[in-house]
Amino acid sequence: MNSEPILSVRKLEKRYGNFIGCTDISFDVWPGEVVAIVGESGSGKTTLLNCISTRLERSSGEIRYRMRDRRFPDLAELSEAELRFLMRTDWGFVHQNPADGLRMRVSAGANVGERLMAIGDRNYGEIRSRASDWLEHVEIAASRIDDMPVAFSGGMRQRLQIARNLVTHPRLIFMDEPTGGLDVSVQARVLDLLRMLVSDLSLSVIIVTHDLAVARLLSQRMIVMKSGRIVEQGLTDRVMDDPSHPYTQLLVASILEN
Ligand SMILES: Nc1ncnc2c1ncn2[C@@H]1O[C@H](COP(=O)(O)OP(=O)(O)OP(=O)(O)O)[C@@H](O)[C@H]1O
Ligand SMILES: [Mg+2]
Repeated sequence: MNSEPILSVRKLEKRYGNFIGCTDISFDVWPGEVVAIVGESGSGKTTLLNCISTRLERSSGEIRYRMRDRRFPDLAELSEAELRFLMRTDWGFVHQNPADGLRMRVSAGANVGERLMAIGDRNYGEIRSRASDWLEHVEIAASRIDDMPVAFSGGMRQRLQIARNLVTHPRLIFMDEPTGGLDVSVQARVLDLLRMLVSDLSLSVIIVTHDLAVARLLSQRMIVMKSGRIVEQGLTDRVMDDPSHPYTQLLVASILEN
């Protein structure tokens, strides 16, 4: 059944000139699994995420992805059309700043509908009704469908960004600090929503966060990075309850103090 990974990363390295952004990165992601990448600022989390999602060119290593037809090519072998399909349909990207993932001066409904049009849907009534359903899924009143995201609060913008991503039924979502820019109270609601959607839709997710509480809430597995390398990886509960690397011990201890 789910015995095959959806993503496999081997010996991935990204250099910025002589500087190592990340190196010796190997891990798998299984269907329906949420993997959190944690570590201090500058540890290489965003570099890693952007290499995997092909927004950044890797220096070396392998990144294999399970296509819908079950092939498992390295992303470097894909045609431009196949990559475009992944970007527009099969993958989602939730940015820390909603403005990076939304068109702020286009209506909420159009922000969601646009992803459907990009994959060939042309029936206006149908697109509008699916956009409206998705607004409700993310707890935005359907009556706001013609409002622009500039008129939304931070939490609403983030929920709209989530709707825009999920409307195409992606199989893998990349998230970089999705609640990083939100107030704590608003964060909790967005996290709850994410947790519910991820489990309802059995999405695979790679989420970058420096917040171990977010990792604990959402992820089944955790990768801990320091200075561009993985220092520890394992089941989130195990890593949090019994961290084996001194750096992870420090990270875990520091959240217990707060
Ligand atoms: N375009 C770039 N050119 C040169 N160095 C870069 C570039 N982007 C990132 N780096 C460096 O690579 C290292 C890892 O950066 P990265 O942004 O991946 O860290 P991060 O873990 O996401 O940090 P944060 O939690 O602050 O977002 C840092 O030392 C950073 O300065
Ligand atoms: Mg980052």
